[in-house]
Amino acid sequence: MPDARGTAVLLSLTRLNQVRAVDSLNATMVVEAGVTLHAARAAAEKAGALFPLRIGSEGGCQIGGNLSTNAGGTAVLRYGNMRDLVLGLEVVLPNGEIWNGLRELRKDNAGYDLKHLFIGAEDTLGIITAAVLYPIPRAKCVAMLGSGSADHALEAFGLLRQRLGTDVTAFELISSDAMTLVLGHLGRQTSPLPTTHPWYVLVEMSSTSSQEMAEAAFYSALGEVADKGMIDDAVIASNEKQATDFWLVREEISDAQTRTRGSVRCDISVPLSSIPRFIRETSAKVMAVAPATRMVIYGHVGDGNVHFNPLRPADMAPEDYLTRHGAAITKLVDDAAMALNGSISAEHGIGAAKRDELLHVRSQVELKLAWRVKRALDPANLMNPGKVLPHMPAD
Ligand code: LAC
Ligand code: ZN
Repeated sequence: MPDARGTAVLLSLTRLNQVRAVDSLNATMVVEAGVTLHAARAAAEKAGALFPLRIGSEGGCQIGGNLSTNAGGTAVLRYGNMRDLVLGLEVVLPNGEIWNGLRELRKDNAGYDLKHLFIGAEDTLGIITAAVLYPIPRAKCVAMLGSGSADHALEAFGLLRQRLGTDVTAFELISSDAMTLVLGHLGRQTSPLPTTHPWYVLVEMSSTSSQEMAEAAFYSALGEVADKGMIDDAVIASNEKQATDFWLVREEISDAQTRTRGSVRCDISVPLSSIPRFIRETSAKVMAVAPATRMVIYGHVGDGNVHFNPLRPADMAPEDYLTRHGAAITKLVDDAAMALNGSISAEHGIGAAKRDELLHVRSQVELKLAWRVKRALDPANLMNPGKVLPHMPAD
């Protein structure tokens, strides 16, 4: 997003769209910044492998942007963030030099690992142009669960992970208000479950074992979770089409909010054990400030990330709600996350909107270090000026 001065130059890397190489045995590929995530995943699949980053915007987003923002999404629980999927980078530096760090090695301790400076820097340090592949899981099971409380849902996660280990690929929590919103957006009457629940969970297990073995383990683990009262209902997708359909419900929530307008979007993370408390206490605080708010809460709770997005009451204009309550809600949500040792930006980054909030959540020592890095690499402040780093006195 260019700033308001009107002097920014926007750079499109869309034509840097080549998959330069795929090495199946080394389980790596080299792709250019403008390759869409979808195309990168397809190139890996063609080679019998998996590029595991999974986010709703797969068709449009590009690898360069995924790197620049250290994209997260719904498979972080199993495979990590974009940062964890990258072995090397090519970067055009602010002074025009090109750093070719396209190394395809899993072990390389020859000095500082500079690529991590550029990943997640939101383009404030240089322009990125390249990934680890995984075996394609043979088996996949997807289910939608209904649960009475966030506490129970998190207990269910704990038990499923004990039983299924890292085969639990995704664990996505959805509040009832988020479900109602997205069903309306999709023009549907009912969720994948026959009755309504305070909370829903979309859970996916994937495994390199046979489908029969995976299903047996999945059914047995879910049965145990139900017997212990952690969930009240479950529907297991019986085929790929149904699984895709469950995922559609989850992935359309964000668009449903955008269309409805009037959401205060907060993207926090807290340690998993604190998630239920965070949700309970923060929801009560929001309701006290802005009664009748719809509590659109969802996200990747298996990795600690909650999209906590209070939405205006149906009969209040979006601008009214945001003007009256936006700042107060953002502050109380961020304060609550920080009080529980969390983060005010789990996966969506800082940009301009959250820049000055860093002053409250990062020490002077850390911010000064960040500025020193910025000045060393981009002394003229050419790269995405005004983003990520809050204004500080010159050091
Ligand atoms: C999602 C985006 C909003 O999880 O991060 O749908
Ligand atoms: Zn997300």
